[in-house]
Amino acid sequence: MKTSRRDIIKAGVLGAAAASASFPLIAAERETSPGRPLDILILGGTGFIGPHMVREALRRGHSVTLFNRGRTNIALFPDLETIKGDRNNGLDGLRGRRWDAVIDNSGYVPRHVRDSAGLLAPSVSHYLFVSTVSVYASFKQDLDENSALATIADESIEQVTGETYGALKALCETAVRQVVGEERSTILRPTYICGPGDHTDRFTWWPVRTSSGGEMLWPGRPGDAIQIIDVRDFANFTVDCIQKKIAGTYVTATPENGYTMGDLLRDCQAVTATKVDDTWVDEAFALSASKDSPVKNHGAFPVWHPQRGPDAVTAQIISKAARGAGMHNRPVRETIRDLMRWWRTLPDDRTSTMQAGMPAEYEAELIARWKKNHA
Ligand SMILES: NC(=O)c1ccc[n+]([C@@H]2O[C@H](COP(=O)([O-])OP(=O)(O)OC[C@H]3O[C@@H](n4cnc5c(N)ncnc54)[C@H](OP(=O)(O)O)[C@@H]3O)[C@@H](O)[C@H]2O)c1
Repeated sequence: MKTSRRDIIKAGVLGAAAASASFPLIAAERETSPGRPLDILILGGTGFIGPHMVREALRRGHSVTLFNRGRTNIALFPDLETIKGDRNNGLDGLRGRRWDAVIDNSGYVPRHVRDSAGLLAPSVSHYLFVSTVSVYASFKQDLDENSALATIADESIEQVTGETYGALKALCETAVRQVVGEERSTILRPTYICGPGDHTDRFTWWPVRTSSGGEMLWPGRPGDAIQIIDVRDFANFTVDCIQKKIAGTYVTATPENGYTMGDLLRDCQAVTATKVDDTWVDEAFALSASKDSPVKNHGAFPVWHPQRGPDAVTAQIISKAARGAGMHNRPVRETIRDLMRWWRTLPDDRTSTMQAGMPAEYEAELIARWKKNHA
């Protein structure tokens, strides 16, 4: 089985680096008062990440307009203006309007991004595009803003799949830079975005499963590194980029080599006040268990990647530039705490079946199989 961070992160939604100390500011905006409330347009805004951005922008006193088709979470922001339209040839509602900045949170198809960037470039001073670390060509070496990007043979493809997602997002990035200009655009490349509201259950699986106690299967070794980005930290940095006019490309993640699966076990137990009996299985076993898991969406061990063997994902995501530009990463334990608080507010029909991880019977079967062969 080929496992890549690109495929796995896609399953969830499914430039030039600025040096840490000298990130470029958008020239025209240097004269404007840093405290001036801004008019911000968000393309999207009602999924998982968007609402956090909306709330953060409003909290800071800015005005927000949403643009979407009116299908997802339509009752979320009754007091905000929502311009109804479709990124696929339905941008008319945006014509003749002006905003200080646009946050493009829903661009997956280069043509859609080229169209919105082209239409908005004359009427906004700043275009921020939410990309992904899935844009990278390989996950075998450490990644920063200058690492090689994935390509696609046929750039006219518009079908977004696990295979095309990363290369299409890379083309979307190029469209923004070309159409809006590097000095007026920001590209953010988040890794797994986690926290309250996450519909993928990828990171959520770990504390929720821990809270049930008993014998629990863990993949790889406790020292295996993982990286995420808390959705609130990502939303804060997004609004910072808009407000402080930070242009350029930024990878966003928790610090490299800063957090391990063992840390995750410790924090999940601490937050849920539950001690599990942890059974660690090797990479080969974990990968095969993941492939055969009845939960097909995100694998049996979401957010974890094997660090040895042919399917190893050894890359660390170097997000120093973003931290140099002001991105703050809260402790992962805080993410877990707030995730669990949110999870406990959800109705039973939402929490009864998780979108990631594995059913209890499958886990018990795997533990028995592992122990039989490794007694
Ligand atoms: N989740 C992760 O771990 C992760 C990791 C890396 C990158 N990302 C990136 O994060 C972004 C997605 O975040 P999110 O889903 O939480 O975003 P969001 O902005 O909260 O939600 C998606 C929004 O897009 C709108 N939308 C979808 N298709 C549209 C269309 N054709 N025309 C107009 N509006 C449309 C939806 O509303 P309607 O349905 O009503 O139109 C909804 O408001 C993507 O750019 C993704 O690549 C996510």
